[in-house]
Amino acid sequence: MRTLLLLLLFCHVSSPVLHSLKHFTIASTGIPNLPELLVTVEVDELLVGSCDSNKRMDLKQDVAKSFFTENPERLERYKHLCFQVLPYTFKALTNSFMRPFNQSGGGHVLQKVEGCEWDDETGEVKGFSQFGYDGEDLLALDPNTFLWIALRPEAVNIPLRWVVDRDDEIFATQVYSKWLKEYVEHGKSVLLRTELPSVSLLQKTPSSPVSCLATGFYPRRASLVWRKDGEELHEEVDHGEILPNHNGTFQMSVDLNLSSVTPEDWTRYDCVFQHSGVEDDIITKLEKDRIRTNWEKHISIVPITAAVVVLALTVISAAGLIVYKKKKAISPPSSPDNSTELSEQLSPETNQGTA
Ligand SMILES: *[C@@H]1O[C@H](CO)[C@@H](O)[C@H](O)[C@H]1NC(C)=O
Ligand SMILES: *[C@@H]1O[C@H](CO)[C@@H](O)[C@H](O)[C@H]1NC(C)=O
Ligand SMILES: *[C@@H]1O[C@H](CO)[C@@H](O)[C@H](O)[C@H]1NC(C)=O
Repeated sequence: MRTLLLLLLFCHVSSPVLHSLKHFTIASTGIPNLPELLVTVEVDELLVGSCDSNKRMDLKQDVAKSFFTENPERLERYKHLCFQVLPYTFKALTNSFMRPFNQSGGGHVLQKVEGCEWDDETGEVKGFSQFGYDGEDLLALDPNTFLWIALRPEAVNIPLRWVVDRDDEIFATQVYSKWLKEYVEHGKSVLLRTELPSVSLLQKTPSSPVSCLATGFYPRRASLVWRKDGEELHEEVDHGEILPNHNGTFQMSVDLNLSSVTPEDWTRYDCVFQHSGVEDDIITKLEKDRIRTNWEKHISIVPITAAVVVLALTVISAAGLIVYKKKKAISPPSSPDNSTELSEQLSPETNQGTA
């Protein structure tokens, strides 16, 4: 749990640029069951591989595998960094971070995210690098001045020249932008593809908001809004986050509170999915018949179940246990198989990026 929280720390780094390369490093001391150091690499928010100080290297995507087959020296470089260089660097860094916090031992976690973003329309490249310590942001590199900024008062006392050499950082940013362009070029069949989502309307109970769910889209840059008479709504709506699916696509949802809308006005509402680079929007009109619910099934099943139970009880008292058993065999299952359908569709798949 702790690990997951820590890994989520850097989520806010993501921004709506076209391409990104991110190296996440997590180093720990005194925490059982965590490798000393773990590095994961994401290209355009897609987890492509990880390596750790136990000398494990794991490539996640076919395009990543074929890239490293064609560029074995890059794989060797990652292995060298991950298996040999970084465990020592990060151990030394953790020690130097412990001092300003007056810590002499115990379990500590140091994280770094670094990489770059590249807008292939404007050509703009922006490097970033940031440290977190024990679950909180600590230091960030100013992308323009290449100076470290303390994000917590204690960080002011960290001898910053110790952290990373300024020239190293400029070098890293240039290297990362070169690498990112190579990865995008190699992986373009996957990274530059477009997949359209299926859009559905869901409602948990008759008084719940209506949720418009778009799932299965790629790339991540997309928007989903509710409109009334063609105008985007900002009140009465609740936007969910964009979440990854298991298969490399994304999902998101937006809820509309209909409590003060009369049934005649429903037709004035629609849900619109817009995709970066795709001309045609997917428009879903708010219509009663389109909404997938599960309460109507509950309503029909509950009286049947009750009737069977009443019947069974009557039978027990009247004719004994044997007859009851026969009746029980024909009664419907106590939990209708559709009852979990909605909650499954609404639950995000959040386990990407933690491997
Ligand atoms: C560390 O100890 C020094 C001296 O006792 C104190 O001035 C400082 O505030 C402490 N720092 C933290 C983060 O507790
Ligand atoms: C990916 O997964 C989502 C959600 O499970 C699904 O809607 C979509 O059809 C899948 N896409 C592909 C290409 O399998
Ligand atoms: C929907 O809006 C009504 C008022 O218009 C409010 O009382 C209610 O709490 C809202 N429901 C949700 C789920 O936000």
